[in-house]
Amino acid sequence: MKKNRLLAALLTAAVILGSCGSSDSSSGTSETAPADKEATETTASAEDKPASEENAPTEFIPEAKNTQELILEVDTDPSHRDKRFVETADYAQLKETYKDKFYFGCAVSERVMGNNEYTELTVAQFNSYTAENAMKPDSGLDWKTAAKNPEFYKEHAPVNFNRFKNCLDYAQAHNMKVRGHTLVWHSQTPEEFFHVNYDKTSAFCDKELMLKRMENYIKDVLEWTNANYPGLIYAWDVVNEAIDDGSGMRKQSNWYKVVGEDFVAKAFEYARKYAAPGVKLFYNDYNAYQARKQRDILKVIKPIAEAGNLDGVGMQSHLGLYLNPNDFMKAVKKYHDELGCEIHITELDVGNDKKKVDDWEKKQADFMTRFFTALQKTIDEGVPVTSVTIWGLTDDMSWRQNEGALLFEMDLTKKPAFDAIIEAKK
Ligand code: XIL
Repeated sequence: MKKNRLLAALLTAAVILGSCGSSDSSSGTSETAPADKEATETTASAEDKPASEENAPTEFIPEAKNTQELILEVDTDPSHRDKRFVETADYAQLKETYKDKFYFGCAVSERVMGNNEYTELTVAQFNSYTAENAMKPDSGLDWKTAAKNPEFYKEHAPVNFNRFKNCLDYAQAHNMKVRGHTLVWHSQTPEEFFHVNYDKTSAFCDKELMLKRMENYIKDVLEWTNANYPGLIYAWDVVNEAIDDGSGMRKQSNWYKVVGEDFVAKAFEYARKYAAPGVKLFYNDYNAYQARKQRDILKVIKPIAEAGNLDGVGMQSHLGLYLNPNDFMKAVKKYHDELGCEIHITELDVGNDKKKVDDWEKKQADFMTRFFTALQKTIDEGVPVTSVTIWGLTDDMSWRQNEGALLFEMDLTKKPAFDAIIEAKK
């Protein structure tokens, strides 16, 4: 255990050193802008792997190995406790409190997975796990290997599952089900993936080639996860953020540029083809409650739902105090009415520039009371909101770093917003 803790401390230090700052989020009249920033966490390099017959694309299931020490068993001995953290064992549990309503999830970073006290709190509170970054396309797509032998890998980029494996081992060890996030997204996807020869100075691929690469990536991820962790992943964000705020498709997305509007339908078609039965397929977006954006999202995903390829809508929910939770719930109900599908709240955080708001913690807590009260009323009226995920553990780790957006302080002290959610339970 001592060795584990030393390694974990080293890993944490390495990740902290390797990361710099957070989001460019804002709390104006709309939800925060999408992340265009690359993930800052460390990635195992597959650069030196030879492109040989052994890892031919059609058979490529790489040998996954741990790239970091994971806390797979929590050390609860009080004398081992890192004194920088407060004791959290006596906190009420979100997952227990809401177990008759929905999964209660958290976005988990690699920093959390290497730390005993973060892990203790995470697994006590949450029964659903989303990898904050480590299961995004740039975590797996091994374009560097592909670029060394571009003819061989032309239609099928190899995937390195090391970081995926860490996430899934951790979730499984701690009895958390997993929301897969995400397969097809304009952000945190290597630019090289979209270009001829995996060379970003070359032209974009043509549509036909890009769709082959998309299909093969989706196939590899869904088949590998199902073969190695059957039943662990209950939902996938198949497509993330394809729609702009109020002007239809996100035109600057490489997916849109290379494939055109039907990349969304194609992604769902492939996901349905390769997903194990029972794995739910979601479209996920921010500002998904706003009327114009909802109209544009529905226009794109309704035919996909009608074709039987969509099971749910993920509403990211990076919110601020400007929002009326009742308006939000009207949008939740509309998705269900129009599509007959489930809804997940996938990335909830409620932030503000703390310097500009007096009594921020109380205001955040009051918001949570109203939000979770309205949410339960909506569920009781028959709308299936089956999963709620908070986007991170402590305020200092949030992508909205200076906005006090999460439920726990840096030292793991619970904030009034945490108590408000517990107390809002009927
Ligand atoms: C964010 C992570 O929290 C950051 O650590 C990373 O640097 C950028 O991405 N919408 C999404 C999430 O779907 O994947 C984003 O996560 C936040 C916005």
